[in-house]
Amino acid sequence: MAKRIALGVFEMMNPSNGMPTWTDPRGRGDDWDRLEYWVDLAKMLDAAGFDFLFFADTYGYATLQGVMPEEVAAHGIQFPALDPMLAIPALARETASLGFVVTSPTTVERPYATARRFASLDRFTDGRIGWNVVTGSSQATTDELFGVTAKLNHDERYDAADDFLDTCLRFWEHSWDDDAEVRDRSRGVYADPAKLHRVEVDAPHQRAHGVFAVPPTPQRTPVLFQAGTSDRGRAYAARNAEAVFIQGQSIVSAAAHVADIRAQAESHGRAGSEVKVVTGMTVTVAPTEAEARALRAEYEALLGLDDAAVMFAGITGIDLTGVDPDTRLTDLRTDLGQTLVDRYAKKDPDVRVRAVLDQFRTKAIRGFQVTGSPEQVADEIEEIVDGSGIDGLMLEPTFGGPAAYRAFIDLVVPILAERGRLTAPAGPTLRERFGGGARLSPTHRAHRLSASAAPNGESA
Ligand SMILES: Cc1cc2nc3c(=O)[nH]c(=O)nc-3n(C[C@H](O)[C@H](O)[C@H](O)COP(=O)(O)O)c2cc1C
Repeated sequence: MAKRIALGVFEMMNPSNGMPTWTDPRGRGDDWDRLEYWVDLAKMLDAAGFDFLFFADTYGYATLQGVMPEEVAAHGIQFPALDPMLAIPALARETASLGFVVTSPTTVERPYATARRFASLDRFTDGRIGWNVVTGSSQATTDELFGVTAKLNHDERYDAADDFLDTCLRFWEHSWDDDAEVRDRSRGVYADPAKLHRVEVDAPHQRAHGVFAVPPTPQRTPVLFQAGTSDRGRAYAARNAEAVFIQGQSIVSAAAHVADIRAQAESHGRAGSEVKVVTGMTVTVAPTEAEARALRAEYEALLGLDDAAVMFAGITGIDLTGVDPDTRLTDLRTDLGQTLVDRYAKKDPDVRVRAVLDQFRTKAIRGFQVTGSPEQVADEIEEIVDGSGIDGLMLEPTFGGPAAYRAFIDLVVPILAERGRLTAPAGPTLRERFGGGARLSPTHRAHRLSASAAPNGESA
């Protein structure tokens, strides 16, 4: 039987998403900050049977040597931006079954507030919420904005993320028994105090003591997404994530990621298939291949080298314009995001800055680039899914507005449906859309934690 493909869309609540496109009439320059724009988009995806709408997000912005380069504000490079989490209840109310995944960092946030926000969203959406757990991009500016002085290095940020998530999991999964909320009017009992448990966490990076204020919600824990494929990032995903977001570049490298994450997940007592992998994908589709290629060329012409350098620096901390273009990428060190550096350096350890910038200009932070007629696109998607073992894809916008999604829905969805790739999900919650039950799998390490167990005593 053909494998089901989970369908999502990759968005950010800013004028262009990735590289600047907001000036184009097909962009969303005048719409991105209107709630109605996002409501309309969510309704379109919901009606087309999409599984989820994903919002990447960061508090920070790109800097070079600590200063915001002029391009960021002038060209609108992932700036300005609104908080997508606040739009979710409106989007959920206007849709029937679409899931929503919101990014929230483990660095400057606090576990209790994060747990309460996601539990509230799980309640308001009837179990259609997911959390993209990130250690954060644009870390330097985020720290400055929040007045954070304690600097953690790359791996320490993941250690802190472990403590952060454990604390959230204890609140979601262990503070209330399933039958603690009784709402018994006749006895005047809202919740059974004997069935509430204090969370006690004294971990190196987190402390939290007390009872969670939110009763169990449809999923309890939001579907846990993770992005970041450094060695430490993958180890984090294998322990915790239910879905991993990658920006797949080739079938071979995506297959290697999938196999590695699943093998590591098995070493934590989980079934490999419990960790779903979804890839970013830019689809440019038109009735004929020639039209699709022309559209793609038009889009690429909007993108500039300087803007690419600014965005690259924002993610990696590396200023490619400040070094000789013949410098080897591997000679430049970073303590920020390693995924992007690895993308180029692992493929070609000798790759030079000039080539990196040129490739990044058109690909930026995108995953697979699929361009062609409807049949060609459907064929290539099936080849990628079957060849790599990934479970779903997240469509990336091209010009910024909804046209790329509309074309995909009109031209490609019917073909994938016909080929048995878009079968009905098992249930209404986002977790069920990914093939699980409504609640975290019994093999997830959250179940080996307890409200108050010694935080570092468990080996899960
Ligand atoms: C595909 C992908 C998407 C990401 N999305 C976000 C995001 O929306 N917000 C954010 O703050 N960080 C985001 N990150 C950054 C990661 O959370 C992580 O902090 C960073 O990549 C460093 O970890 P790494 O070295 O494992 O890549 C993303 C990373 C990747 C690879």
